[in-house]
Amino acid sequence: MRIRIAQEFAEWRKLARAAVAKSIPPEAIDFYDPAYAGTSELFSAEDICSADLTQDVPDTRPHVPKSFMEMAVIAAYHNDPQRWNLLYRLLWRLQRQRELMKVQVDADVNALFRLAEQVRRDEHKMHAFVRFRRVEEQDGEERFIAWYEPQHHILKLAAPFFAERFAVMRWSILTPDGSASWEPSTKQLQYGPPVTREQAPSSDELEELWKSYYASIFNPARLNPDAMRGHMPVRYWGNLPEIELLPQLMTTAAKRVEGMVAIQAGKPSAAPFVPAKHTLTLIREALPTCKGCELYKHATHVVPGRGAGHAPLMLVGEQPGDQEDLQGLPFVGPAGGVLRKAMAEAGIADSDIFMTNAVKHFKFVQRGKSRLHQNPRMSEITACKPWLLAELDALKPKLVLCLGASAAKSLLGGTFGLMRDRGKVLSTPFAEHVMATIHPSAVLRAPDEEMRHTLYQHLLNDLLAAYRFVMKAA
Ligand code: URA
Repeated sequence: MRIRIAQEFAEWRKLARAAVAKSIPPEAIDFYDPAYAGTSELFSAEDICSADLTQDVPDTRPHVPKSFMEMAVIAAYHNDPQRWNLLYRLLWRLQRQRELMKVQVDADVNALFRLAEQVRRDEHKMHAFVRFRRVEEQDGEERFIAWYEPQHHILKLAAPFFAERFAVMRWSILTPDGSASWEPSTKQLQYGPPVTREQAPSSDELEELWKSYYASIFNPARLNPDAMRGHMPVRYWGNLPEIELLPQLMTTAAKRVEGMVAIQAGKPSAAPFVPAKHTLTLIREALPTCKGCELYKHATHVVPGRGAGHAPLMLVGEQPGDQEDLQGLPFVGPAGGVLRKAMAEAGIADSDIFMTNAVKHFKFVQRGKSRLHQNPRMSEITACKPWLLAELDALKPKLVLCLGASAAKSLLGGTFGLMRDRGKVLSTPFAEHVMATIHPSAVLRAPDEEMRHTLYQHLLNDLLAAYRFVMKAA
């Protein structure tokens, strides 16, 4: 008797339970995966329809120990065409040998453990090696797309990890086995059809960004090609944009600044000005050389980050204001006053924080004697991002708190909804723990006292939540 099982464990379980209840021994049944069957097998006369098997099933409950189920659900993602038969053989034997799962030397039990372990390993690799690339959709919204070829059928096993980790991004992972898409507004993970390699984008903004990030954190002193190959098996290299850079970085590490210029060709970027080694001192020293975008032309000072060198909490504002530009220090103007008040109320000491900005030069328009603040464009935020990433790398904070939409755009993407998702600890490819809150200047600009109070409370609550998080993580 031959039974087709596609790739769903639930389908096998229902049919296997029916077969056990009908006392069909493993030798008399062949569960096969149509993906691996030849055409002649697909139309075999011996096939019976699964509906036949599930009809008139005796009302008995098979013995299914938890230890078996836990392994079986994982092993079911394996690409071994014989996996369903192995699972059925074990289920059948378990009805007679109730302690079989404890006999690890048994060939079937051993095979089950091996399949489950290989699936787990494949799942971990997928978590580590998926690289998203930013694409703009027709409606102007951004989506992050990754192409990935897992070894086993693990898409549905691995996808929830990405939903949790990149909860605020609109993303899709395309595989030859199927696709998974996440919609942050509805928080829904949806599965779709397989995708061919040609349908996956191979280059775009995020890829360039990732390359520049990788190149800027690349440390030739620690270079060990064998170890790199070991951690990143060659079969995964095709998806990783940074791999393209490896030969260049390995052979011309000293010339990497020129390499960066080539990578960023045509797009404004601070990358060529960021020092190879990321210490806060080196970053501060290199910042005045930055001509990565046009903003340096009219500013008085570039404004580096400031604070404790081992601070667990990094605060990222938008850009220096008028006072900050004149003094070359972050948060020394009116918005800084609000921030300091909230920090004092939350019990946060200067030694707990490092303050910086998503954009390091003041952007303004001159109106008479006044210089009026202007929001930076996404291209300016992106251009300045290598500085922020270098600061992140130097400091390695436990949490980054983005103050306002511009900082959130830099680390959480252009579609991040500040009022919707403020106060939540999120993960990004750039920093493990990121939270966003409103900008202190929003408190100053509030139209009335009630709104001012509400916004200040939001800022204070989020600062407190961020501070508690880093203290717990310490
Ligand atoms: N606003 C910011 O975002 N950063 C500063 O440094 C000052 C005001």
